[in-house]
Amino acid sequence: MAKKVLHLISSPQLETSVTKKLGNVIIEKIQEKYPDSIVKERNLAEESFPHLDGFQIGSWFTPAENRSAEQAAAIKLSDDAVAEMHEADIYVIGAPFYNFAIPSTLKAYLDHITRPGLTFRFNEQGQPEGAFKNKKAYIATASSGVYTQGPTQSWDYVSPYLTFMLGFLGITDISFVRAEGLRLPGIKETAFERGVESIVID
Ligand SMILES: Cc1cc2nc3c(=O)[nH]c(=O)nc-3n(C[C@H](O)[C@H](O)[C@H](O)COP(=O)(O)O)c2cc1C
Repeated sequence: MAKKVLHLISSPQLETSVTKKLGNVIIEKIQEKYPDSIVKERNLAEESFPHLDGFQIGSWFTPAENRSAEQAAAIKLSDDAVAEMHEADIYVIGAPFYNFAIPSTLKAYLDHITRPGLTFRFNEQGQPEGAFKNKKAYIATASSGVYTQGPTQSWDYVSPYLTFMLGFLGITDISFVRAEGLRLPGIKETAFERGVESIVID
């Protein structure tokens, strides 16, 4: 069965980006398993989402039918990104380690798709419920260091944050694909291949 795949790229590197290459390998494997899948790419580094401003936040909280033309225009980018998230079955998200966390381009994007009452709400039990249910996310990550084991394991603010944040939005089926240790002798030589070998498409 063909799938709709949304590839989110957050590295500003062009041809040399490891997360972009890893994301593309994941997509190739998705297409092998699900022929005729459609891929849409959104490059968050080339067309970045701005930091949220007060006018945009105020527009979110104004009921759609009461929004002025300026308010509607101010959140069109956010509305379109939310619609695109709904359309996709599978997300492939490139998330390099940038100072132990995700790049601000990806954080800005997440800020625009995390909309109270629209993409999440708290139910009567006070539990969060996200809007993007029954979706699959593959996170293509890359780092100079190693964070899956050893003394620097607790320095990883990429996988705990994305696991929590995507879960908050309803996306609980998440696979991390890592090219890690890209600067460490003895590890860097095979880091990308080990990432590729760990890919399992389900
Ligand atoms: C601004 C910047 C910050 C980085 N911070 C980290 C870091 O905190 N930990 C780490 O292991 N690698 C860090 N790196 C290395 C990158 O994660 C690595 O080069 C990775 O391949 C970047 O992904 P990309 O190739 O898709 O751009 C950093 C690189 C840059 C440019």
